[in-house]
Amino acid sequence: MNNKKAVVLGGGVLGTQIGLICAFHGYDTTFWLRSEGSVGRTQPKIDRYSALMLEDLAAAKPLIGNPMGRFMYPKGLIKDWDSMTPEKLDALYETGRKNMTEKVHIELDRAAAVKDAYIVIESMSEDPQAKIDVYTQFKDLLDPDTILVTNSSTLLPSMFAEYTGRPEKYLSLHFANTIWKNNTAEVMGHAGTGKEYYDEVVKFAADIGMVPLQLHKEQPGYILNSMLVPFLSAAQGLWANGVADPETIDKTWQLATGAPAGPFQILDIVGLETAYNINQMKPAAQQEGSLENRVGKLLKEKIDKGETGVNAGKGFYDYTKK
Ligand SMILES: NC(=O)c1ccc[n+]([C@@H]2O[C@H](COP(=O)([O-])OP(=O)(O)OC[C@H]3O[C@@H](n4cnc5c(N)ncnc54)[C@H](O)[C@@H]3O)[C@@H](O)[C@H]2O)c1
Repeated sequence: MNNKKAVVLGGGVLGTQIGLICAFHGYDTTFWLRSEGSVGRTQPKIDRYSALMLEDLAAAKPLIGNPMGRFMYPKGLIKDWDSMTPEKLDALYETGRKNMTEKVHIELDRAAAVKDAYIVIESMSEDPQAKIDVYTQFKDLLDPDTILVTNSSTLLPSMFAEYTGRPEKYLSLHFANTIWKNNTAEVMGHAGTGKEYYDEVVKFAADIGMVPLQLHKEQPGYILNSMLVPFLSAAQGLWANGVADPETIDKTWQLATGAPAGPFQILDIVGLETAYNINQMKPAAQQEGSLENRVGKLLKEKIDKGETGVNAGKGFYDYTKK
């Protein structure tokens, strides 16, 4: 086994960011994608997110020595801010840039992708059957020692453990969007996860610049989404009920709490497809005329127009205008 090989299954919004942060911190990183079409969709994301990460790293240089700097530097990229100097930052920039070019590979062949992997990080769409299918396909291809984690936001590892062929080495490692700045990693096992593998994943998370947040038991939505999902649903409910428009709802939240972003700005970053998938899992979403059903229809209308969020250039807001 290669202790420095990480594999990401899925090259979407989060998968791309996870793979890049692994490569940035020195892991030989392979994205497994299911088709040539996926390569065409993932490569631009790799280019875009690596450029954003390097831009934010370069922007941290003038913050060195500034007392506000500690609140603003990209925490997932710089492990020790207190000892940072302009020279060290230049060196980190160069190593990170090189790593994100030379240590990133895309592979369509399943066996070749996961060969010798230390860790495989599943970050595919939030679709339980698709996840089961993929775990089943990979089960016999993984090295016996490989640890398998899921980045699923809403599904529990106990739902999938039996399909992985390694329940004791399977758990959740849940990242937040814009991973290089918001460097939380929630670590959550299921009842059959081995303590030693849980601890390994905690170490791995810290090694790739994350702050591991340890959950003692399974919790749908972990810590973050137990708070965030109801918050975003409440905002979408206000919108779907015609109470106020997204801009006003965002402004209310930002002005009243001092938060840097409102719920619809967050939804644009998360991506409307993910928001739609989460909404559709609520039983009420299938009941014609219910609030959840109307939220689903409104989100679907935007998705069908290609307005899926920041990545598409347009979501609730237009990102093509300066
Ligand atoms: N977007 C977020 O803010 C966020 C945050 C934390 C965790 N997550 C979780 O990360 C995972 C991925 O989310 P995302 O936002 O990157 O989604 P996304 O829609 O951007 O990407 C999903 C990826 O999965 C691939 N995929 C879908 N079905 C597949 C299949 N059957 N076989 C192989 N590949 C398949 C797609 O090609 C795509 O590359 C989800 O489980 C989500 O809950 C998302």
